[in-house]
Order: sequence, then C-alpha cells, then structure tokens
Amino acid sequence: MKAMRGAKDRPKPRGGILKILRYQGGEAPDSSIPGAVKMSSNESPFGASAKARAAYLKAADNLSLYPDGDATALRQTIAARHGIEAARIVCGAGSDEIIHLLAQIYLEAGDEAIHMRHGFAIYRIAILAAGGRPVIAEEEELMARADRILEKVSERTKIVFLANPNNPTSSCMGEEEIRRLHAALPEKTLLVIDAAYAEYADRADDISAMSLVGESENVVMTRTFSKIYGLAALRLGWAYAPAEVAEMLNRTRAPFNVSGAALAAGRAAYEDVGFTDRVRRHAIGWRAAMRERAIALGLDAPLSETNFILMRFPRGEDQASRAYRFLAARGFQLRPMGIYALPDALRASAALDEATERFARTLEEFMSREGGGG
Ligand SMILES: Cc1ncc(COP(=O)(O)O)c(C=O)c1O
Repeated sequence: MKAMRGAKDRPKPRGGILKILRYQGGEAPDSSIPGAVKMSSNESPFGASAKARAAYLKAADNLSLYPDGDATALRQTIAARHGIEAARIVCGAGSDEIIHLLAQIYLEAGDEAIHMRHGFAIYRIAILAAGGRPVIAEEEELMARADRILEKVSERTKIVFLANPNNPTSSCMGEEEIRRLHAALPEKTLLVIDAAYAEYADRADDISAMSLVGESENVVMTRTFSKIYGLAALRLGWAYAPAEVAEMLNRTRAPFNVSGAALAAGRAAYEDVGFTDRVRRHAIGWRAAMRERAIALGLDAPLSETNFILMRFPRGEDQASRAYRFLAARGFQLRPMGIYALPDALRASAALDEATERFARTLEEFMSREGGGG
C-alpha cells in the first residue's frame, strides 16, 4: 500500500513559474447588448482581407498534410517586401511564441531581463517561465527612455524587451534613441524590439529597428499578423534576427509551429497592401479624433502611434472602474489597466466609425454624470 503523500512529494515547477500571474486576455463584450463592440484586445475592427479569408478556406483542401515547417513561401514574401534576408526570418505561432522562445534560449536561471514598468505583460511571464529575473525600468511620462533602461543593466542582463510602439502606453521610441540604447548595451545582451504595432506607426521601419537587426548580432525585431492584418485567431508572428539567433529559434521551436492555414492566410494578407493601407489610414484618423474627444472630456490621453488609445481618468482608479462598468453595461468592452500599473486608465482599441461615435457619446454621458472633467 502506498503511504500518504504530502504536498512536498508532488511534481514541483521551477520557482519562477509560481510567481507567474496567468495572462488575462481582453474580455468579450456582453453579446446580449445590441451593437456590442469589443475594444479590449487591439484587434482589427476590419477583420482580415477577403484575399486572406479565401486563402484560409483554400487551405482546407490540405488538412491531412503537414504544413511547410520552414514557412518558406511566407518568409520569402516578407523578405521581398522589406529587402531583408529570408534566412533570418523565423515564423511563430504568434509573436508571443517567439518572445517565449527567446527567453528560453537566452536566460539561464537567475539571469536578468529588463522590461518597462508599463510594458507588454507577456515579457514578465516569458522571463519567469524561463527561470529568469524580471527587472523593471521606469518610463518618463509614459515614454520608454534609453537612459532609464541602461541604468538597470547589470552583469547578468541577458535580454531587454521593448515594445515599440508600446502596448498599452501607445508611445514610441525613435530610431536615434534605439540606436543609442543598442550602442550602450553590452554585446552579450539581446535587444528585442517588439514591433507588433509598427504598421500603425508613422515611421514603421525606423522604429521597428529593421536596419539595426541587419547590422548587428544582438538585436531581434518581432512582428505579428494579429493586429493590422486581422489574423489574431490564426496565431502568426515572425522575427527578423541575426543569423545565429535565427538558428537558435529554429532549433528550439516545434517543427510545425505554424499551421498551414496560418501560413496561407498570412501570405495573402501580406500581399494585400491596399487593404492594409485602408486599415492603417482608418486607425490614424481614429486615434487622433478619439484622443481629441477624450481630452475635451478632461481625460488624459497620450499621443498614439497604434490602433488604440490609453485614457487616464482625472479622478483616478475609482473613476476608471466606474467608467469601465458604465461602458461595459452599454456594450463597450474596454481593457482595465490595473495589471499594467495604470489603474486610473482604460485602454480602447479602434472601432468602426458608427461604433466609435456611439462609444464617444457614451463616454461623454459618463463624464457628464460624473460632473465634468476635474
Ligand atoms: C506589444 C505586443 N506584442 C506582442 C503581442 C502578441 O501578439 P501575437 O498575437 O502575435 O502573439 C501583442 C498582443 O497584444 C502586443 O500588444
């Protein structure tokens, strides 16, 4: 007969894993509310292009076959567009997968990896899951700054994760500052520029560090098909990396990490430049107009280079919570920002024009019930 076992006999995860708070995705709106709209995950309100949908459906003809584990055609399409080497591109099941793989590859137990206080939440999870130690750098007025990152660098810093533009602050570090940051980092430290929203930014190639990757051995850029291309459900992202880093990613990833449907739809989406341009133009107009309306209501909203805006409520956390509930009860599902250390804020993703108008009016109604701005 087996003796009674205590908790200490059970399989035990690494210490860092116990520190992970499970990632909470953006909630869906209450679908019983007519006209409900999801503005909580920075997805595209335009969905995917018709060409990507057609390619996805066509992929159903080959469901019994393994996909191309090297994502050859997709990598060639991406490489040709940007004039970069296909051999240095690695595709992943979302850029999340690539971020996790980089942490696993480059962090030994106890190694440090830096992320911003208000940086994308996945970095901390990936660092802890790999046995590393997350080190937080502080923004200045919600902007990531090279000097604030550099003052956190130690002997043990192996990775710096920087989302550019960042989620949720929607701010962007310029190319010159990225280059200054890179120049001052030790060569053994990997600088990961997560450019999930680059297509929405004014200077996509500059701020995504595309040219810097080409020139260095320790810079990786990650990109996603989940945002402007409207393919979040398919889980597809890619990295442009130094040859050796690409090789390590290829060694560690699962051999068929990207599905055939994702490869086919991703390629068609990338080629449909006209569609992407329309989505980009809409987001640029949306963020400027929405920000102006939010500011007119007494909210603080930093300049956005993305398809979302961050709205900070003048009366702080309680008011942001009231606004969250008020908007959700009327079908507008936003993202609360407590886990991003911005409890006084809500993040709103771009919506189509009609929904945006209803949303802005509902926000106005909320603020007027609150007795105005201050
Ligand atoms: C900054 C940033 N990086 C990466 C991702 C993850 O993208 P993917 O869907 O490619 O995993 C997101 C998604 O919200 C994001 O905001």
